[in-house]
Amino acid sequence: MAIPSEMEAVLISEPGGPEVLKPGRRPVPQPGRGEILVEVHASGVNRPDVLQRMGAYPPPPGAPDWPGLEIAGTVAATGEGAGRFSVGDRVMALLPGGGYAEYATVHESTALPVPKALSMEEAAGVPETFFTVWHNVFQRGALRAGETFLVHGGTSGIGTTAIQLAREFGARVFATAGSADKCRAAEKLGADACINYREADFVAALKEATGGRGIDLTLDMVGGDYSNRNLDVAAEDGRIVQIAFLKGPKVEIDLNLLMRKRLQFTGSTLRNRPVPFKAGIAAELTTHVVPLFESGAVKPLIEATYPLAQAAEAHRHMDEDHIGKIVLTTQKPGA
Ligand SMILES: NC(=O)c1ccc[n+]([C@@H]2O[C@H](COP(=O)([O-])OP(=O)(O)OC[C@H]3O[C@@H](n4cnc5c(N)ncnc54)[C@H](OP(=O)(O)O)[C@@H]3O)[C@@H](O)[C@H]2O)c1
Repeated sequence: MAIPSEMEAVLISEPGGPEVLKPGRRPVPQPGRGEILVEVHASGVNRPDVLQRMGAYPPPPGAPDWPGLEIAGTVAATGEGAGRFSVGDRVMALLPGGGYAEYATVHESTALPVPKALSMEEAAGVPETFFTVWHNVFQRGALRAGETFLVHGGTSGIGTTAIQLAREFGARVFATAGSADKCRAAEKLGADACINYREADFVAALKEATGGRGIDLTLDMVGGDYSNRNLDVAAEDGRIVQIAFLKGPKVEIDLNLLMRKRLQFTGSTLRNRPVPFKAGIAAELTTHVVPLFESGAVKPLIEATYPLAQAAEAHRHMDEDHIGKIVLTTQKPGA
């Protein structure tokens, strides 16, 4: 198939609500050195896209200014020096932006072959959360088998990924979520227990569940008043990894807890990291996680798919309520 010169992309007309997402036209990007051009079949919707839409999360320099951090599709062309994939290969890839479009370029080292067990829609829901969870839970957080692990936002894209991976790698998993239905979903995915934070105090519940020992590793996206509570519920020598701050970035923490329990408090953001760093995560995912997709042990949880042109609807859905991931599809035949 000839590659057109222009494509459909979902543009942010101005910062604001879902209605500012408008279908538009953009030139099809050219793959640079080491890059591949991917004909996009599906792209994942993530909370950072919502923040970008609202004007609170600008794309890093050099990235397209339309949203989209992850895609699945087929390789349409390869740039100079790119040799890992051939035209027609099915890939899923992490992008710094620009996934809400019919085509996207990406460095080949941050793309993985689509596992045979996954559809294109499922594969599009993989990169952003699996790269983030792998780095923050296993590389930075150093989760080990037999440890206790807590993820807040247990039914978010990140949460549903973290629960499944932590369970597969032998941790005892706990989660928090904002309703009984969400808690049931988190437990079905492998959480030993999920605490509905609207009804119970997760610190008291988890101290009780762990016989007073507490949590070895917490993955937190909430911040605000959760920060001291994360320190409170931590086990001795525990770790807390911050990946977002839905309740605010500025907090006053009790350093006494940090010192007395010898805690480590760290965090990271993925989007602005350099390609070689992301390539390192891709390599570890290929070794440790792709076999789990192939065996069916782990699967991205897709709540809904929308045509690309209905990205505003997908964001409305994201802004309201969901369990797992929402995906946009270009509805290519045979995908
Ligand atoms: N640092 C990084 O590299 C990185 C990468 C990717 C994503 N992130 C961040 O990770 C978070 C999850 O991303 P996602 O795409 O998976 O988002 P998502 O599916 O929209 O999930 C957001 C979750 O936050 C929970 N939540 C919202 N307000 C809350 C509150 N006040 N207290 C407790 N929980 C609250 C919601 O659960 P309930 O309905 O149960 O409250 C929801 O499940 C986002 O904040 C995103 O920006 C960070």
